[in-house]
Amino acid sequence: MEMNEGKDLRWFDVKNVPEGYIFSKENRPQNLDSPVSDSIPVIDLEKTPIEAIFKASQEFGFFYVINHGVPEKTTNDAINVMKEFFNMPSKDRSGVVLNSKNWIYINSTDFEKDGVYLWRENLKHPCRPLEECIPQWPQEPTRYQEIIAAYIVEIQKLSLRILEMICKGLGLDPGFFNGKSEVQILSTGFYPPCPDPTLTLGILAHQDPSLITLLYQGGLAGLQVLKDGEWINVGAIPNAFVVNIGNQLEIISNGKFKSVLHRVVNSKHETRRSIATFVNPSLDCIIEPAKVLINELEPARYEASKYKDFIGRNKSFGDHTTALLNATPSDNQA
Ligand code: OGA
Ligand code: NI
Repeated sequence: MEMNEGKDLRWFDVKNVPEGYIFSKENRPQNLDSPVSDSIPVIDLEKTPIEAIFKASQEFGFFYVINHGVPEKTTNDAINVMKEFFNMPSKDRSGVVLNSKNWIYINSTDFEKDGVYLWRENLKHPCRPLEECIPQWPQEPTRYQEIIAAYIVEIQKLSLRILEMICKGLGLDPGFFNGKSEVQILSTGFYPPCPDPTLTLGILAHQDPSLITLLYQGGLAGLQVLKDGEWINVGAIPNAFVVNIGNQLEIISNGKFKSVLHRVVNSKHETRRSIATFVNPSLDCIIEPAKVLINELEPARYEASKYKDFIGRNKSFGDHTTALLNATPSDNQA
């Protein structure tokens, strides 16, 4: 009795994985213990690596960026404030949630997929227009709004730099993405230690419906990417971001770049916290293969559609919430 006094017992404080979290055999993760892959390209942004980004986007749809110019303090502050958020007693977290309209906090038991829960909690909110969104974000921890606003400003700058290089690589007009790309949504994942990670999943295999996604992993592994039919383990290079190509950039590039399936697996001892920022077109933007990339030999492989219609059309993209959690491979009209 005494030992537990004041302790907020949480859903993951268990010796065995509760039945509700156990995936059927065919859906359980593989390759948990394979070494971290050293094949995912590491891109040094100080070298204006236009060709390297092009190649990585073509071959992997995933790459790390280093020397990206985002101050370490900004990323550390952000990951630490997320840590504080998820460490708050659950009654405080749910209290915060009930008082807010525009953002959601999702407990692990809201992540039901085919009747199985994901081993994860999630906080997600919009980020555009930034000034309007900030006051809607969590008010606890008290520095949340200030710290995350600073983080988003940096991510916006970094994403524009990366998109500019992608633009050059693809041979698009400079400024192609101007006004078409914004850090719209932040989604942060909390993946507590799991007694048996061979039975559970943190996020199911999905593609991102974004243009590009920038992911900060707080120095921990857990992300897996499908490459040539195999799930490979993405390592966590300290202070690097993982960048991946989303569905919209696959369409714009007319399939030159691929938005690749990825998922998160759990760990027995480590607590993963990640911050994903989705750089999206605005909802009314029409997304189609870039005109300069199509010709008689290479006809358009995707139909034009408004970003919001694309999201609406994909059942599993349903709304932003499920879109970002559970997207299945897009059935692009090739
Ligand atoms: C996502 C995603 C990875 C992670 O939110 O789309 O892939 O580590 N997140 O949380
Ligand atoms: Ni994703």
